[in-house]
Amino acid sequence: MDRKHIFFCHKWFEDYTSPYHCPDAEIEKNIILKLRHTYRVCENITKIARSLGMKEEDLALAKALALFHDVGRFEQLRVFGSFNDSTTVDHALLGLKVINSSGVLSCLPKKERNLIRKSIWHHNKYQIPVTEKADVTLFSRLIRDADKLDILGIIAEHFETRYQHPNQALDLGLTDDLKLTEEAVSDILQERMVRIGALRTLGDMRLMYSSWIFDINFPITLAYVKERGYQERLLADLSLQPEIIQVRDFLQAYLEKRSRMSI
Ligand SMILES: [Fe+2]
Repeated sequence: MDRKHIFFCHKWFEDYTSPYHCPDAEIEKNIILKLRHTYRVCENITKIARSLGMKEEDLALAKALALFHDVGRFEQLRVFGSFNDSTTVDHALLGLKVINSSGVLSCLPKKERNLIRKSIWHHNKYQIPVTEKADVTLFSRLIRDADKLDILGIIAEHFETRYQHPNQALDLGLTDDLKLTEEAVSDILQERMVRIGALRTLGDMRLMYSSWIFDINFPITLAYVKERGYQERLLADLSLQPEIIQVRDFLQAYLEKRSRMSI
């Protein structure tokens, strides 16, 4: 993929998303949120790919993947007013339907087309299958890191400001309670990401996003997570929960261990 094609992809993305702007302030807020998220994920993926020394044509491909990874969010928001895949629709699947029927990838070689499609599919799954091909695994890891890095920033800020600026879509319909579910705590203590289906409260949701650290692939992403203090910010309000000391210490130790490994 070359620069000319990236320009074309940007133009397509702008044309595709512009009709989703909406007079309903609640929906519009989240359309803007997803547009900004997409552009920041493009920046993140470029930084991560550069840190790995990837060549220019692969950087362009990674950027196109970032641009398209959340295309399904716009239709999901229009139809359901929600970002919760488990109660609405898999937004990666929805995005692939949009991309396939638009033909936006049709001028790319088949290999690049498939690489983008498969990486979009993998971007929101619990894990990438171990049987996946090496190039798909690499690009899927890139988008997963770039995406998580930005979402962690959005969610940390959401928890810090949700009483002044509520956003129900980001609360995923969970109860405003800091109690922690045993399954979520136990997952973390076994270095496992908490599954969305295990969430009962907003306290659990804080744990789930904290547990994403177990699925960070590249040293530069880990360095940003540490530098921006996402762990501390996500867990800040849980200090009265009895299990939190063990969880916090465990996550902190894991972060330090991984940081030392990547030097
Ligand atoms: Fe996504």
